[in-house]
Amino acid sequence: MSSSGTSAAPVDSAAEAADRPVEAAPVEVPESFTVTLIVRRYDPEVDDEPRWVDYDVQMYQTERILDALHRIKWEQDPSLAFRRSCAHGVCGSDAMRINGKNRLACKALVKDFDISKPIYVEAIKGLPLEKDLIVDMEPFFDSFREIQPFLQASGKPEKERHQTIAQRERFDDTTKCILCAACTTSCPVFWTDGQYFGPAAIVNAHRFIFDSRDEASQVRLDILNDREGVWRCRTTFNCTDACPRGIQVTKAIAEVKQAMLTGVKL
Ligand code: SF4
Ligand code: FES
Repeated sequence: MSSSGTSAAPVDSAAEAADRPVEAAPVEVPESFTVTLIVRRYDPEVDDEPRWVDYDVQMYQTERILDALHRIKWEQDPSLAFRRSCAHGVCGSDAMRINGKNRLACKALVKDFDISKPIYVEAIKGLPLEKDLIVDMEPFFDSFREIQPFLQASGKPEKERHQTIAQRERFDDTTKCILCAACTTSCPVFWTDGQYFGPAAIVNAHRFIFDSRDEASQVRLDILNDREGVWRCRTTFNCTDACPRGIQVTKAIAEVKQAMLTGVKL
């Protein structure tokens, strides 16, 4: 057949094409399901002891434990108390224990859990419980403040303080900390001895100890050489497993111990 025998599809002018209704792309409706959350509730004004309370929540594939908690608070029980701010893994305010493991509620997708079983949600351990999923973070921040988490350098540079790429990389991992406390409150040593500085404080000390511009490394090493300092660490790796930023927490603690023993910041 010659090409002249085929009928070519009519070509619209740009104006005609613009007028034609656009065929909608098929939209996949998210699958919804019911999940049971069992939340450890505690109201100091009413309860002698914390109590577990069940909630059935309608959820979608893409939603997180934080969305489930919002739904409970907005639709079932406005008295439920928990902290959150950014809702995107940046502020570190919603660390909680979910099915026995410390996580950020805003990064824990419901579909990643076995939704045929209830999901247990409770406050992080080792810090004083204030209400429901809220703990008193002051002891945690006291330890953080104690290690002097700020750059200490003398002299006034003409412009900036120079640092090579390799020097910056030396402490890159520990700059990622968002102070969520997931590591410290997953540490069995911290559970039994709340005086222990804990992984997060050591991570933040590491960030400055290995900074080539800082001049107070020895001060921080001396602080962490204390009875309640790095030597309490038993290398259980709970902290590394719990860190939502993927920081090699146990490695950072080992490097601080090494610097203490050798005086060398490798
Ligand atoms: S090291 Fe990780 S788990 Fe620990 S406080 Fe920082 S971000 Fe959170
Ligand atoms: S709400 Fe900010 S880290 Fe989860």
